[in-house]
Amino acid sequence: MPPRILVFAGSIRTGSYNARLAALVAKELARTEVEVSLISLQDYSMPLYDGDREGASGPPEAAVKLKRMLCAHHGVFIASPEYNASITPLLKNTLDWISRVREAAEPPLTAYRQRVFALGAASNGTHGGYRSLMALRQVLELGCGALVLPEQIAVTEAATAFDEMDNLREERHAQKLRSVLGQLVESARHYA
Ligand SMILES: Cc1cc2nc3c(=O)[nH]c(=O)nc-3n(C[C@H](O)[C@H](O)[C@H](O)COP(=O)(O)O)c2cc1C
Repeated sequence: MPPRILVFAGSIRTGSYNARLAALVAKELARTEVEVSLISLQDYSMPLYDGDREGASGPPEAAVKLKRMLCAHHGVFIASPEYNASITPLLKNTLDWISRVREAAEPPLTAYRQRVFALGAASNGTHGGYRSLMALRQVLELGCGALVLPEQIAVTEAATAFDEMDNLREERHAQKLRSVLGQLVESARHYA
């Protein structure tokens, strides 16, 4: 069975660099022996996490839907923007809600286990948002018990990093992306 890989960005901004990176990842993966799902968090809108709300009515429907989406895939690529050296509130809120979804008698954090995560970031600076990747790694690995690949891509100077075909202009970025995606596909195979 070919591995299934889910791709999304932690931004829903029109013209988002990270949505562009996610789209490129989906395009590159589609050339390989995997099934790719590219989604937008726009389609999984959730209220800000609130314990009282959860107590009264449980996780929102979108969190349950996205949790099931994660469970249906063997690998996940997240393109994560950097906000004040961390991840976006949108991404954190989404990951937090998913961590609260527990269906039937399944163990906690099911959406984060039995699959592999790869991370990327794009920022219009010289660090390419790598601090957001460190923060995201902490949330996924330490918080949620996920397996996150050590190799990651940080696209620097994002405003000019993509060409008119939405490919990465610089060979060092393109090469890094190929390497990260190669590892993601290889690792996802173990769960397929
Ligand atoms: C509240 C806020 C904080 C930000 N902090 C950082 C930062 O720490 N480092 C950085 O490289 N860019 C920072 N930025 C710039 C974002 O990386 C930039 O807006 C980027 O385009 C967001 O990703 P997107 O294009 O995928 O929406 C910040 C932007 C906002 C709105």
